[in-house]
Amino acid sequence: MSALMETEPQTHAGKVAIVTGGGRGIGAAIATMLAARGAWVAVLDVDLDLARETAKAFGGFPVACDVADRAQVDAACTAAERELGPADILVNNAGISPKTNGRAFGVQEMPWDEWDRVLAVNLSGAFGMIRALAPGMMARRSGRIVNQASVAGKRYTPIVGCHYTASKAALIGLTKHLSAELGPHGITVNALCPGRIGTALASTVDPRLNEDVLRDTPMGRFGTAEEVARTCCYLTGPDAEFVTGQAVDIAGGWMQT
Ligand SMILES: NC(=O)c1ccc[n+]([C@@H]2O[C@H](COP(=O)([O-])OP(=O)(O)OC[C@H]3O[C@@H](n4cnc5c(N)ncnc54)[C@H](O)[C@@H]3O)[C@@H](O)[C@H]2O)c1
Repeated sequence: MSALMETEPQTHAGKVAIVTGGGRGIGAAIATMLAARGAWVAVLDVDLDLARETAKAFGGFPVACDVADRAQVDAACTAAERELGPADILVNNAGISPKTNGRAFGVQEMPWDEWDRVLAVNLSGAFGMIRALAPGMMARRSGRIVNQASVAGKRYTPIVGCHYTASKAALIGLTKHLSAELGPHGITVNALCPGRIGTALASTVDPRLNEDVLRDTPMGRFGTAEEVARTCCYLTGPDAEFVTGQAVDIAGGWMQT
């Protein structure tokens, strides 16, 4: 982190950012990169120990929050803004992709409570965070919102379940709708669509499915969490003032649309 601090441009100096699911994986990379670029970062995670560990590395503010729980979302946003100041940037990164023995259930086998949980975390979690923070951004006529979708929200992929695909497709829809609704208030809303990124979540899949992805990825490798974080920094930084309503692939050419 200290090496990053010395080399990253200070594009986000003084900005306040809130990152959900920031305790590990892509969210931790985003939180760390935003901090390295000068932002004050609140790390929200359902696992407070993970949030603490990530935040400790750059002096961020860890907050326990299950984004599927409306009361926790409102309390976490209040706590983060009280500690750091009004949020300039919201990154809705928290997401889950349940697997059983390395594979997702088919539609007939999928338990209702698993379907409900995926939609609650991946989609309603982002909706709740935006509901909590957008009014302040609108009042200040400035804000950047980035939703962590997936290429799986654009096309069928056998490595995830229909709940995950539906949640990410809906998140892209939410992104496009809100870019129009919030644009007149000076707020941009974009989505990240990673392909296969080498995180703990990716390792829950049957290795044969990951090998198929690798074979079908023109760049011949999985992406890194840092590569997703760099795209997030672009979308939340000064070079993307006029970029909104976009769902940007970071996928090495996999699943091109
Ligand atoms: N890894 C990939 O290949 C890949 C590809 C496309 C999209 N994504 C998306 O990127 C995001 C991050 O993925 P990752 O690979 O870093 O996953 P990960 O499992 O490594 O990390 C997810 C983090 O979110 C937290 N989290 C889970 N449920 C939460 C909840 N209800 N409230 C708050 N925090 C919660 C976890 O504790 C964890 O720290 C997810 O939205 C995922 O769908 C990942």
